[in-house]
Amino acid sequence: MIKQVVEAYGKLSKRDLRLLRILEVGQHRHEFVPQELVERWARGKREEVLDSLRRLHYLGLIRRNLSPYLGWKITASGYDVLAIHTLRMRRKLLRLSPTPIGVGKESEVYSGETPGGLKVAVKFYRGGVSSFRYEKAFESKVKRFKHLRWVYETRLSALAEFFALGKIFEAGGMVPEPLARTRHVVVMTYIDGVELFRLEGGDYKKIAEDVVETLRTALKLGIVHGDLSPYNILVGGRSYVIDWPQWLPSGHPTALDYLMRDLGNVASYFGEKGVEIPVEELLELARTSGTAGELFTAEINKYIYY
Ligand SMILES: Nc1ncnc2c1ncn2[C@@H]1O[C@H](COP(=O)(O)OP(=O)(O)OP(=O)(O)O)[C@@H](O)[C@H]1O
Ligand SMILES: [Mg+2]
Repeated sequence: MIKQVVEAYGKLSKRDLRLLRILEVGQHRHEFVPQELVERWARGKREEVLDSLRRLHYLGLIRRNLSPYLGWKITASGYDVLAIHTLRMRRKLLRLSPTPIGVGKESEVYSGETPGGLKVAVKFYRGGVSSFRYEKAFESKVKRFKHLRWVYETRLSALAEFFALGKIFEAGGMVPEPLARTRHVVVMTYIDGVELFRLEGGDYKKIAEDVVETLRTALKLGIVHGDLSPYNILVGGRSYVIDWPQWLPSGHPTALDYLMRDLGNVASYFGEKGVEIPVEELLELARTSGTAGELFTAEINKYIYY
């Protein structure tokens, strides 16, 4: 849980954070970074380095390996700390709520606040949902780092959602505005609303119009949501489509299957409310595919390590 992570972060010195960073870089070469190397790279007094390692270990941010040599690696909580620290330094995040507003199989979402007082949603990705969609670009980047595969899968999820939100938001679709991404974490504007599946009564025609308009926008860009259902629609003053990490380019061999399923889900939900979804028109848009797939491949090449 993020509460412990935030508390741990509060106990770290600059030196501790620097050591964590050193391990992050060192792990590209070593599954467990030899303590000998950590000491050399840290360039501090030996006692101070050992003291930092002890604290990081005690707080659950790093793991120790004793054999065949003494070495260290970062835990999932350690990566959370690094991400939170980067967002702090970039002035994108000041506070995080102690309890999640949403927990799925592949992510945890917390509310938070920026230094400017803006309420945000902060999504931590715990798993990979999309590596098979970008196999070539992704595999060529991570094949040298087999032991870091899960780390890069979570980063790919964050990168994918940040990309889709950015493109759709810029084009005028109703999605949260993405504000920052680092590693496996995305910060976006907080939507004050309730998930559509919880809604009891409302202007379903207006809700459907927002959803369809957002789908049009996404499909023109070549983006198929891939997990669309009343669970991923937030209804406030307007209605927003959320949860895009598993999106796929409309040119992908399986994109049409996913799109049919997405549209089937919303069409049957709104159908029960007496509102029709223009399924044929949306399917047609997916056939004149946009360029999101190529653009995103270029982003993987550029940003997957950060
Ligand atoms: N921008 C946001 N503003 C407000 N609440 C949000 C926002 N993003 C997510 N949430 C809340 O968090 C919940 C989970 O978010 P989301 O659907 O993005 O991830 P998920 O369902 O956990 O993902 P996965 O499909 O990987 O399990 C949402 O149902 C919603 O209640
Ligand atoms: Mg969801």
